[in-house]
Amino acid sequence: MSLLNEIKAKAAKKQKTIVLCEGEDKRVVTAAAQVVREGIAKIVLIGNEEEAKRVAPDVDLTGVTLIDPETSEKTAEYAKLLYELRKGKGMTEEEAKKLAKDRTFFGALMLKAGDVDGYVSGACHSTANTLRPGLQIIKTAPGTKLVSSCFVMIAPENHPCCKDGAFVFGDCALNICPTAEELSEIAISSAHTASVIAGIEPKVAMLSFSTKGSGNDSKYTDTVTKVKSAVALAKEKAPDLALDGEFQFDAAIVPEVAALKAPGSTVAGQANVFVFPDINAGNIGYKIAERLGGFMAVGPVCQGFAKPLNDLSRGCSAEDVVATVAITALQAE
Ligand SMILES: CC(C)(COP(=O)(O)OP(=O)(O)OC[C@H]1O[C@@H](n2cnc3c(N)ncnc32)[C@H](O)[C@@H]1OP(=O)(O)O)[C@@H](O)C(=O)NCCC(=O)NCCS
Repeated sequence: MSLLNEIKAKAAKKQKTIVLCEGEDKRVVTAAAQVVREGIAKIVLIGNEEEAKRVAPDVDLTGVTLIDPETSEKTAEYAKLLYELRKGKGMTEEEAKKLAKDRTFFGALMLKAGDVDGYVSGACHSTANTLRPGLQIIKTAPGTKLVSSCFVMIAPENHPCCKDGAFVFGDCALNICPTAEELSEIAISSAHTASVIAGIEPKVAMLSFSTKGSGNDSKYTDTVTKVKSAVALAKEKAPDLALDGEFQFDAAIVPEVAALKAPGSTVAGQANVFVFPDINAGNIGYKIAERLGGFMAVGPVCQGFAKPLNDLSRGCSAEDVVATVAITALQAE
């Protein structure tokens, strides 16, 4: 069974309820129906029947719960919840009432209130607008101060470098220029996602253009020092995790190069979780693997939220939405 089908089958066993915030989008409406038809999760779709019929006239929404913030009796309750959560940050009651009708905020408030188990949005909203309600309302899980993201990179069949069938790349989409402390959090969270979502026993490589001191950019941005510090911090926080660096990508993945450049490392040459030094490296890296390497990029998968909340790419297909729902269900307690 493919990894994606395994993820869907595992999600189906949990029968979690996931809110899809964008009932105005055909791909989302199509995916909502498919998720319910295939028994992957229960779905609450934010929108209304008239709109769903207009954008996706042929889709049968039997079994999907539709909820419209404009008419729902829950909106007033959620506005109060939002006001209580954000009044310390200067939000007024009027602002809260208005924002509670925004579909992404409404979805995040449903999640906060415990009315659903997970949130998926972003097919027609930017990453920033999709994640901000989560960052403001759901906040981080105990034990971490950082929300980050990773991609599960599913390998083409029989890929010579990928014996687990998938790699995890983090953070290619959310934290723009992480500090050493933040990089260590990204590493630990990405290892957790690798094990929960991809079923991989994580071996984490902290990537750089330098391997074990071979390069130095202290005159410029000093990322080598940053990655070295992140390695030390992550080892301190998660002593049982197989994690090492700093490594160039070849030292992280090719045993022969690892033997030359990082002899004695238990991660070099065998890594399956790759942590990039910033969003430039990560975003470019995952797209190269996808476009030139033939890997399928699933994500970005958000990690570190107190409750599962995920962002879709605006170029997503209905199938991508289904996959993200399944992943979100797996992340739910
Ligand atoms: C995600 C993102 C929107 C956050 O933006 P931001 O400007 O920091 O957001 P805000 O300042 O509105 O912060 C909102 C809250 O979230 C918190 N926050 C922001 N980033 C956080 C993170 N990574 N982890 C935890 N909390 C975070 C802030 O502390 C703030 O909390 P508060 O309001 O309770 O004090 C921003 O990091 C971003 O745009 N990233 C790049 C996304 C992107 O374009 N990706 C493209 C590739 S797919």
